[in-house]
Amino acid sequence: MRQPIIAGNWKMNKTNQEARELAQAIVQGLKADSTFSEVVVCPPFTALESVKDIIEGSNVELGAQNLFWESQGAYTGEISPKMLLTLGCKYVILGHSERRRYFFEDDQIVNRKVKAAIEAGFSPILCIGESLEEREGGKTRAVVSRQLQGALEGLEGEKLKNLVIAYEPIWAIGTGKTATPEQAAEVHSFIRGLLSQLCDEELSEEVRILYGGSVKPENATDLFCQPQIDGGLVGGASLDAESFLKIINSYPIGD
Ligand code: 13P
Repeated sequence: MRQPIIAGNWKMNKTNQEARELAQAIVQGLKADSTFSEVVVCPPFTALESVKDIIEGSNVELGAQNLFWESQGAYTGEISPKMLLTLGCKYVILGHSERRRYFFEDDQIVNRKVKAAIEAGFSPILCIGESLEEREGGKTRAVVSRQLQGALEGLEGEKLKNLVIAYEPIWAIGTGKTATPEQAAEVHSFIRGLLSQLCDEELSEEVRILYGGSVKPENATDLFCQPQIDGGLVGGASLDAESFLKIINSYPIGD
C-alpha cells in the first residue's frame, strides 16, 4: 500500500512573513484533522528556513523547488543539495514544466539534477507531462516516456526507491482545466509500466505517482479515488490554507 502524498508547490509566491503565516495555518489545520497522507510544502528558497521552524514537530515535510547538481563552487545564483538538506528538505521538485519552459531545462539537465538529488538522499519529485499540442497529436505516451527515460538515465534498481513522480499535463497547469480522473489514471498506469522496466516489479509498485494540474478541493476526491493516483502536486490551491487542507482531507483516513 503506497502512502499518498499531497504536496504544495508554492512556486514564486509568498514573502517570508506570508510563508510563515501559511505554514502556521496548515500545521494548525492538520492538528484538527488527522490525515493518512504525507503532507509536503515546497516554499521558495527564501522561506525554507522560516517554514522549517514552523513545521518542526508536525507531520508536514519540507521540499525545495529546484537544486543544482554540484555540491559547491562558483555557480552564482545556484543552490546545492547540501544547502537544502541542512535546511531540512526531504523532497525536491525537479523537471517542472515551468523550469523546462522558462529556464531551458532539458532531459539531460533534469537527469543531472535527479542523480545529484538521489545521491544526496532526497526524494525527488520528478515532473513530466505533455503539452496540449502533444496530447492532441496523440503524442502523450511518447513524450512522457522520453521525459521519464531521459530523467532517469543511468539510474535503476534500488536507486529509484525514493523517487516520486508527478504527472503534470502542461495544459492543465494553472489553467483551471484538469485532466479527467480517467485521463490521468491512464497515463499513470503507463508510467508505472515504464518504471517496471527500470527496476524490479516490487520496487516499481512502491513509487508514488502524483497528479498535478489544477487540483482543487472540488475535483480532488474524484482524482484521488483512482487507485493509480497516489496524491497530488498542487500549485495555486496550495497557497491558501483552507483549500490546501480541504484537498488533503479529500483522502479517506486510514485504510
Ligand atoms: P496548479 O495547481 O496551479 O495548476 O499548478 C500545478 C503545478 O504546476 C504544481 O507543480
